[in-house]
Amino acid sequence: MKKWPDIERVLLSETVLQRRVKELGRRISRDYRGEKVVLVSVLKGSVVFLADLIRAISVPCAVDFLAVSSYAGSESSGEVRLTMDLRESPEQKNVLLVEDIVDTGLTLNYIKGLLAAHHVKSLKVCALLDKPACRRIPVALDYLGFSIPDEFVVGYGLDYAERFRNLPFIGVLRPSFIRRGGVCAKRRGEDPSDILEAQ
Ligand code: PRP
Repeated sequence: MKKWPDIERVLLSETVLQRRVKELGRRISRDYRGEKVVLVSVLKGSVVFLADLIRAISVPCAVDFLAVSSYAGSESSGEVRLTMDLRESPEQKNVLLVEDIVDTGLTLNYIKGLLAAHHVKSLKVCALLDKPACRRIPVALDYLGFSIPDEFVVGYGLDYAERFRNLPFIGVLRPSFIRRGGVCAKRRGEDPSDILEAQ
């Protein structure tokens, strides 16, 4: 693409994304009618999705954030740890976890376990993207934007070494841009900034 030379093609256009996010917002508003909900955004990738989703929801809602990281080499161990906790207690609240993408499912499984221990009133998950081919642990998704193939996608919040989060669409990175590592393993086991610096 001329404007984005590192992007091979657009997978989900801005129009397609915006339409789907509005649909998700309508469904969520309908399902939580008469209730309040806390949208818990998992940093950082989900913030763009969250910003659009919350404006498509009509029931009273709060937002909170948490962050996790995976240890280097965790592709085998699946070790995830909390790096930033919620600001408010989620106890007795309707919590809707907002994720940009579910790959292996390890992150979501870990966060669901954490929140369940807080005695929430209800716990659901809204993910924009799902890559079922990468799944290592089953996780239920209550609201899903799109199921996508196992390709390296960026944009609309998703990054590669902190780049491309600002794309208004979801695009597939050129394979030549990705020097090493498998697609499913993209965020695990090595620091992609090393790869970029080597270019
Ligand atoms: C991404 C995404 C999920 C996680 C999914 O985060 O936002 O949190 O990976 O992967 P999994 O299903 O294999 O566990 P990432 O580690 O890229 O961090 P970021 O959101 O800060 O970019």
